[in-house]
Amino acid sequence: MKIRIVNGPNLALLGKREPGIYGHESLDDIIAAARRHGEKLGVTLESFQSDIEGELVHYIGQSRGQADGLLLNAGAYTHTSIAIRDAITASGLPCVEVHLSNVHARESFRHQSFISSVCIGQILGFGGYSYQLALDAVVWHLQKLRK
Ligand code: DQA
Repeated sequence: MKIRIVNGPNLALLGKREPGIYGHESLDDIIAAARRHGEKLGVTLESFQSDIEGELVHYIGQSRGQADGLLLNAGAYTHTSIAIRDAITASGLPCVEVHLSNVHARESFRHQSFISSVCIGQILGFGGYSYQLALDAVVWHLQKLRK
């Protein structure tokens, strides 16, 4: 099984960026932990990060046939981007929406997600561990489809 982990704007700054909200782990730390977790599940991970909406749209849209599923933390584009939403649909892949923080306990502009209704589910509020939980969730979903 191959899963693509896609991270959007400002997530390359994790560890330095607002650690009170996002924690002290870097994105590399979080991806490395997810990779180790994936090995136990027999999953190969590919990771991509961009601050640029179009690059994210392109990578997600081109994922059809390249992976079995997606984990997506679209950062602030979660709350603004119809293009990313359309790319998820275009990929045809099951996608789990991931956030480190509990966006529902934050500013009201973070309560709206343009992507949640085209994702199979959301995992949020567990810091870097959200990625491992989301990996469990997408693997569970894919195994269920194969039965
Ligand atoms: C975030 C939440 C977003 O609202 C914010 O813009 C981010 C990070 C999270 O992982 O908690 O950049 O996606």
